[in-house]
Amino acid sequence: MGFSVHWIWLAALSCLLCMAGEVRCDCTEVNMQMTGGNYTLTKQLEQGSLMIYHCPEGYYPYPALSRLCQANGSWKPAARRFLPQRCRMVECPDPSVLEFGSVSPLQENYFVKNETTYECYSGYSMRGSGRRTCLPNGKWSGPTPICSRDSGDNCADPGIPAGSVRNGNLFGIDDTVTYSCNGNLFLVGSSERVCQENGQWTGIEPACYYKHTYDTPLEVSEAFGSAIRESLTTSEVTNDTQQGRTIRISKNGTLNIYIAVDISESIEKKHFDNARDAVIKLIKKIASFSVTPNYEILFFSSQVYEVVSILDFLDGNTVLNDVITRLENFVVGDRNTGTDLNMVFKTFLERMAFIKQQVGVEGFKEHRHVLIFFTDGAYNMGGSPVPTVNLIKNMVYMNHTSEKEAKSREEFLDIYVFAIGAELFDEDLQPLTAGLGGQHYFRMKDIQNLQETFDQIIDEEEVKGLCGLHKDYETDTQRERYPWWAFIHVQTKEKSKKCLGSLVTPQFILTAAHCFTFENFPEDVTVEIGNFIEKGVKNFKIHPQYNINGKTNEGVKEFYDYDVALIQLKNDIKISSATRPICIPGTQETSNALKLVGKSTSKQQEELLLKNHLERLSFLTKTGNTVREKDVHAKLGDNRDECIQHAVDAEGIDTNNPKVAVTDNFLCSGGLNPFRDHIACKGDSGGAVFKNFEHRTVQVAVVSWGTKDKCGTGEVVESDEASRDFHLNLFRVVPFLKSILGDDNQDDYAPLEFLSS
Ligand SMILES: *[C@@H]1O[C@H](CO)[C@@H](O)[C@H](O)[C@H]1NC(C)=O
Ligand SMILES: *[C@@H]1O[C@H](CO)[C@@H](O)[C@H](O)[C@H]1NC(C)=O
Ligand SMILES: *[C@@H]1O[C@H](CO)[C@@H](O)[C@H](O)[C@H]1NC(C)=O
Ligand SMILES: *[C@@H]1O[C@H](CO)[C@@H](O)[C@H](O)[C@H]1NC(C)=O
Ligand SMILES: *[C@@H]1O[C@H](CO)[C@@H](O)[C@H](O)[C@H]1NC(C)=O
Ligand SMILES: *[C@@H]1O[C@H](CO)[C@@H](O)[C@H](O)[C@H]1NC(C)=O
Repeated sequence: MGFSVHWIWLAALSCLLCMAGEVRCDCTEVNMQMTGGNYTLTKQLEQGSLMIYHCPEGYYPYPALSRLCQANGSWKPAARRFLPQRCRMVECPDPSVLEFGSVSPLQENYFVKNETTYECYSGYSMRGSGRRTCLPNGKWSGPTPICSRDSGDNCADPGIPAGSVRNGNLFGIDDTVTYSCNGNLFLVGSSERVCQENGQWTGIEPACYYKHTYDTPLEVSEAFGSAIRESLTTSEVTNDTQQGRTIRISKNGTLNIYIAVDISESIEKKHFDNARDAVIKLIKKIASFSVTPNYEILFFSSQVYEVVSILDFLDGNTVLNDVITRLENFVVGDRNTGTDLNMVFKTFLERMAFIKQQVGVEGFKEHRHVLIFFTDGAYNMGGSPVPTVNLIKNMVYMNHTSEKEAKSREEFLDIYVFAIGAELFDEDLQPLTAGLGGQHYFRMKDIQNLQETFDQIIDEEEVKGLCGLHKDYETDTQRERYPWWAFIHVQTKEKSKKCLGSLVTPQFILTAAHCFTFENFPEDVTVEIGNFIEKGVKNFKIHPQYNINGKTNEGVKEFYDYDVALIQLKNDIKISSATRPICIPGTQETSNALKLVGKSTSKQQEELLLKNHLERLSFLTKTGNTVREKDVHAKLGDNRDECIQHAVDAEGIDTNNPKVAVTDNFLCSGGLNPFRDHIACKGDSGGAVFKNFEHRTVQVAVVSWGTKDKCGTGEVVESDEASRDFHLNLFRVVPFLKSILGDDNQDDYAPLEFLSS
């Protein structure tokens, strides 16, 4: 680095002055180097700056995780000469706490990558992992191994997680076990669990964490996803035992979500940006569930910066997009020093009191509250938030003092804490969480992956069937971005035809009628959806009014009106994040996706999706094993006539009236004005013309035909002055879709719920 002696001398001198309280002075980097790693400073060497240490994966900074620059220019904690700052190898907690079994190898300490195996004594059988590896986040891979024998107890042996001590060896109804952690470990999860009548233990398995232990994004998304899912799915699938079919029932109530993001100096700027983006992501993802919560969103340090007030939601003055815009535009200015976490809880309590006043006590009973905090827990003002949390509980639990009555209200309040920062105040933060069931406290090393973390929540089993859900960013094969796209191959001895299609239910693919000819049989058709290649096509159904020769005597050689068909597979396709149906016009689910509340109509859907006279839409083209997106602008309203005029120049059309070939059932795209569109090429036919609405994709048309054949399969080519493409508007063929997909007089497949008009 080459600090000059002169510089050090000056620094030392000014520090002498500032120790005497004469001037405010900066900290120095002298003797602060670390071996094996490095550090960053949040505010250079100014007072209040945090020196945050970083180590490679599998290591953690020791003896300090961070140091704070104090007013007198000294670091806290001070660097110690005989305990130099370095990177230490990550350790995992002691696994030899296993009862009725053996652990090998037995070691004093277990380091990252160390492997252990577990065996049970004879007569005992094992649950959990027989082999575990110490991971870079300070946890053992796999679930806790438990050796037990069938003793006829009401609950199964809950085990002893690595590093912990369990008190209690009786597993009958109402028996309690308690846990604590050894040495410098601390406990995350339930320190007490009670055996319930249903054979389950209350709470969640505890774990012993070191200060260097953290939760991986995958762990967080799984745990948070399953915990919050209960609040987010308004309709649950249950078994209708008489019919053997699944039905949907709705839960009552209103969901209020309160989000607070710590922007005090103790959290780095990049953390703030990431947290804000993650909040945006979280809100967008929540929007893809079929709920519309009210939001209260604020940032805080020593004061509260309210970005969105829940009161505006109650008044109906705010829509989701405003929330996102306000979040995006929120910038961190100069912040007051200090952190007042208690004030945030007080603010939320006030909002709840206001809601209660507005909706009355009975109405308030139906309100669920989810509080989500992003903070490191280093509050230094306002005192402990615990008393305020108790007031919040009291309010939501309706003053029920008896444990049993309070329990019945517990599902109405969840407090989640995402602990984020260089140094976390676990002892202060953990008691602030509340809620039933899953994990509510998450210890994040880095917030960078939080967006992705929240993204994975939508892959939960319960919502995976929702139409049009997809990821917004590029993925390797693009399957998760366009999980509905299908490739169709119709092969006979003489001819082979390739089309695209879209999955519209687990058993049906929508495509163009012109992909088939009169001679085709279901055996000629192959459908490919990702790795799934299905030859088992049961049937295909072409729109009854489709007739390619219907207007030969009016000068239209090939007439494409009603160019839609549905392919029925022999078996349902397995739905996953990479294989999921697209939303189609006229269904209830599409109305849900479009957030049309109450009784809605196809017309409303159409007005929402095709409202501009120049509507931006997309379709796909297949290149190799993946797809690329093509963008077009459908010319609607006043723009349509000019657009379809060019149909008369197409080959095989011998009439001056474009409307003979291009009926009102087509959308028109292409040309140069005001934008150049991509044009459809060979092989794009039958594909979905779609529009994304927030995080759902809705198909509005099917790629049908065009005036010019300008490109080959997989090419992305732009339109010229006269090239136009015509896409069959699905809003015009809802009765056809409904007659097949909505048919509930059959037992082959679950029908889609269509709107009555
Ligand atoms: C600091 O350390 C981290 C982790 O070892 C490393 O990824 C990073 O490149 C280092 N940065 C600098 C500037 O040395
Ligand atoms: C600097 O101030 C802190 C508290 O403000 C004090 O504990 C510490 O001893 C001071 N250091 C020196 C070198 O004066
Ligand atoms: C455990 O890890 C340490 C550090 O990498 C290594 O020295 C030791 O040999 C490992 N022990 C076993 C049994 O693998
Ligand atoms: C419905 O019941 C059947 C048989 O009881 C069961 O196999 C299936 O998993 C149940 N489905 C759901 C969604 O609960
Ligand atoms: C939902 O509302 C109905 C009628 O308002 C009520 O009978 C039912 O108990 C409520 N269900 C729940 C779970 O609160
Ligand atoms: C709960 O207690 C508070 C304060 O004691 C009181 O104002 C409120 O009316 C009570 N609420 C109910 C539902 O009993």
